[in-house]
Amino acid sequence: MSISKLTTDKVKERADIVEVVGDYVPLKKKGQNMWACCPFHGEKSPSFSVSPSKQIYKCFGCSKAGDPIQFIMDIEGVGFQEAIRHLAGKYGIEVEEDETRTPEQNLEQNERESLFIALNFAKDFFVKNLKTEEGRSIGLSYFKERGFTPQIIEKFDLGYALDGWDHFLKAAKAAGFEEDILLKAGLILQREGDASRIYDRFRGRVTFAIHNVSGKPIGFGARILTKDKNQPKYINSPETPIYHKGDVLYGIFQAKKAIRDLDNCYLVEGYTDVVSLHLSGIENVVASSGTSLTEGQIKLIKRFTNQVTVLYDGDSAGIKASIRGIDLLLEGGLNVKAVVFPDGEDPDSYSRKVGSQAFQDYLKENQRDFIGFKIGLYQDEFAKDPIRKAEVIREIVQSIGKIPDAIVRSVYVKEASGLLQIEEEIIHTELNKSLIKSNKEHFQKVKDEAEAELALQELVPTDSQLSFLGKLSIHEREILKLIALYAGESLDDEGKTVIEYLLEETLETKFQTANYEKLYGLFKGLNSKGNEGGLRNLLENFSGENKTMVIDIVHQRWEVSPHWTGKHGIIITTEKDDLSGNSYRALLRFKKRYLEKLMDEATQNIKAAVAKNEDFEQILVLQNIFLEVKKVQILLSKELGIVIG
Ligand code: CTP
Ligand code: MN
Repeated sequence: MSISKLTTDKVKERADIVEVVGDYVPLKKKGQNMWACCPFHGEKSPSFSVSPSKQIYKCFGCSKAGDPIQFIMDIEGVGFQEAIRHLAGKYGIEVEEDETRTPEQNLEQNERESLFIALNFAKDFFVKNLKTEEGRSIGLSYFKERGFTPQIIEKFDLGYALDGWDHFLKAAKAAGFEEDILLKAGLILQREGDASRIYDRFRGRVTFAIHNVSGKPIGFGARILTKDKNQPKYINSPETPIYHKGDVLYGIFQAKKAIRDLDNCYLVEGYTDVVSLHLSGIENVVASSGTSLTEGQIKLIKRFTNQVTVLYDGDSAGIKASIRGIDLLLEGGLNVKAVVFPDGEDPDSYSRKVGSQAFQDYLKENQRDFIGFKIGLYQDEFAKDPIRKAEVIREIVQSIGKIPDAIVRSVYVKEASGLLQIEEEIIHTELNKSLIKSNKEHFQKVKDEAEAELALQELVPTDSQLSFLGKLSIHEREILKLIALYAGESLDDEGKTVIEYLLEETLETKFQTANYEKLYGLFKGLNSKGNEGGLRNLLENFSGENKTMVIDIVHQRWEVSPHWTGKHGIIITTEKDDLSGNSYRALLRFKKRYLEKLMDEATQNIKAAVAKNEDFEQILVLQNIFLEVKKVQILLSKELGIVIG
């Protein structure tokens, strides 16, 4: 989906910050700038400023800032490309795709485009069906029965799939769609054992269009209207190249603005709950559509808020089964609250039963933070049974342990201590145990992932290029060799010399090979004296074993004649030709190997700390050191892969 630079440039040129921001919030002029209440955080007096002359926005409250493109990325929760498309649409600029894509990328892109178009066609088709005789008498009357208004039906692109094997298929073919694309879009099916028999996936059901975050239909949920127990209640679109269920939340497009404005997201179970809440005037609501919550969905929520309120049906067995989702939310660093409905009611039924105002009041009065909620859930059980109580404590502690922020954790420890009537100290001890355990697992996972990524990186260079993965000492020698041979040669136009460059870049490292470290020190001393002439012929500056060491180092390249100053120019022309490139690569190799050593050391330190049962925060510090080093090392490996490959 790559947009040409020309289009991007046109958009950048045309997009005006005042017009772009003005689409979302009313701006008032005050002095040079325009002002508004920030659309990214709740506030009563304006601290969000837009500068027409600089073409930027900046909020002095939440410090969000950027250009028109960044504004669209932030407010719509989309990526750069999508933001360009959005602005191109606003200004009527034709979007030109990049020519530099490979044929495969083109095919993939064309296929994705086709899928989007097919899904949009299906959406229109199902929506129109509601106006047919059958659609009115069956589909529309069902929606009316549920209290859905025409506005809400339109807002959610609700529709109806006619009862019959190929109503959709025929219409789509007549409109020029290929069966292949319709199959890939999950809109039609092939009969098992007879691939030539194809038919509509959705038949005789009302349809809920599933939109991506920018509002394009990417799939459907279709609900049965009869009480036929032999049929599934819902038929849902399968995974397709444009519909990854784990990254999608039903209703996010219709909810995202309200989620950001209200800085909270209600999480419900299904399609009808989302629609019913909108009917009750609550728009900041999404559903995970019958599946359990995924990391991708949590990331999606976090683009708009850090606060989630989970709405649970009033049946405690069901709640206990789905409560794992809470831990995932906590792990994602979200603030979690929960509301439970009276027995037998779900958000959809309850909102219809009591009406919009009473429903909103109910949410306000009954929301609890996750600790109170979870403890309340088990209250009856552990009141009678001390063993059960111990289990519940452990369960609660585990949840607290998922929270990334230490301060938030300690707040919850206090609360749990009060509610469970146990000393804080005991909870803290439990918590530490649980943190060390889960952190060990986490650490192992990160390490495995990092190593897997590294392994991939290292597949890039060929075998002979991989020779650099030798001992650290080889790379130390390589650095010293470059200094010994080319110390005073300049590397670039600014006249930085090889020795200056290499010493500077290795300032914070320590050579591991004793002899090399010594030589390194000698070179350093020489350089600080600014011994220009001497640097040209390092051998003159050394005698005895130091001289032998230098000779050893340059020896491999210099075995033809002892008059190496004359000879080396011929033997290693290529090395000399690209002195700056060779110095750079030698440094990369050295640093990569050096970091590996640091990582080894860090791993040993962590192991020792865990074995000694040291404080959790202490171990965390050590683990962070490891991860930081690992990150740099991965970057280095990537760079090496690029400069070598
Ligand atoms: N769901 C599903 N597939 C099913 C059943 C349920 O995908 N076979 C998902 C849907 O997202 C649905 C949600 O789970 O909206 C909740 O299910 P349920 O309450 O049974 O569906 P409703 O349509 O709300 O039915 P009812 O009118 O009985 O409440
Ligand atoms: Mn329901």
